[in-house]
Amino acid sequence: MTNTMPIVNPWLAAVAPSPIVEAKSWVLDRSFPADMPLIDLSQAVPGYPPALELRRHLGELLLDPTMHGYTPVLGVPVLRQSYAIHLSEFYSARIGPAEVGITAGCNQAFCLAMMSLARAGDQVILPQPHYFNHDMWLRMQGIEPVALDCRPESGAVPHPDDAARLIGPRTRAIVLITPNNPTGAVYPRETIHAFYELAKGRGIALILDETYKDLLPEGERSHDLFAEPDWQRTLVHLYSFSKVFALTGYRVGAVTAGIPLLTEIEKAMDCVAICPPRIGQEAALYGLQHLLPWARRNTEGLATRGELLRAGLERSNRWRLVSLGAYFAYVEHPLAGQPSRTVAKRLADEENLLTIPGDMFGAGQERFLRLAFANVSDDRIPAVLERLERFSA
Ligand SMILES: Cc1ncc(COP(=O)(O)O)c(C=O)c1O
Repeated sequence: MTNTMPIVNPWLAAVAPSPIVEAKSWVLDRSFPADMPLIDLSQAVPGYPPALELRRHLGELLLDPTMHGYTPVLGVPVLRQSYAIHLSEFYSARIGPAEVGITAGCNQAFCLAMMSLARAGDQVILPQPHYFNHDMWLRMQGIEPVALDCRPESGAVPHPDDAARLIGPRTRAIVLITPNNPTGAVYPRETIHAFYELAKGRGIALILDETYKDLLPEGERSHDLFAEPDWQRTLVHLYSFSKVFALTGYRVGAVTAGIPLLTEIEKAMDCVAICPPRIGQEAALYGLQHLLPWARRNTEGLATRGELLRAGLERSNRWRLVSLGAYFAYVEHPLAGQPSRTVAKRLADEENLLTIPGDMFGAGQERFLRLAFANVSDDRIPAVLERLERFSA
């Protein structure tokens, strides 16, 4: 038989299939009885729609004939301005609109930032377990992800001294995510600042993905890096409007960096998307202007749900909670000899509980599963705990 496939990029071909696509395929053709519905803890999505007032507002906007075209490559000026003000207030710093760019989601912000910082053959340090899309993107670009393992009992917080040992002549950046995906760990302020000093001292970038920044307790922020006099030389900050305003399908995020880097990012953005989606930008703008109190109420609800899950997992003598925060709990499963993928697949088959196995977050994660609990309502948490216990009994 002849191979009908054109020659493909071997770096891309070598990347494993998307974890979410794969996990969802386990349950795709199944139906579930009313007394044992599927509980989907696989994807990090808010389990509620955007605010009704936002949906009404967008409905009206769609009637406006000027709302449908391309926008400037890095977003409409009013949104860049509004987001720069939001960040400046949040971090008590002065961030200008020219230092922020709007992107089609935070994943795209990462891809563009990476494209602008590194080329094939370079290395980028990723704490492990990593967010799979970061690892995948680097590999398909021919950039080598270098795993920074967290020390046992560190609560899944990486140590800057370990990162220092991994930096070599080909290293271009260190990536941190806080609150973290997949572990939910909230990195201490000192840790983030120590990573910043390390990156600065070694002349590489610190990419800080704060997709989940709004899930911290009110008034808390993870760091004060924007108050550093020359943060633009080191810091590349990524953000998502997906979670805070429940806009996952609108594809809108942001990158904040020094103007020289944003100039490069603008070129890359022009090629891949021309501009972020117009309607997504309008949604983000409305959110920033009107919906932060709405977002705060949701955050509080999520924190309560997280605590319910935490309390249940801490009572278990089979499952061990590694860390929990934002949308996620990272747990050690009790079936020591079994690969995480087998455990996750069995949980889906036997208990109608869909989770993501640790091995999708990097090497050495076979004992773990990620539970993305934002997607389910509070009243499902007892069933999650019950199914986990029954499964491992
Ligand atoms: C750490 C992290 N970065 C980026 C993203 C993607 O966000 P967006 O929907 O804005 O592309 C996610 C989504 O789960 C995430 O967890």
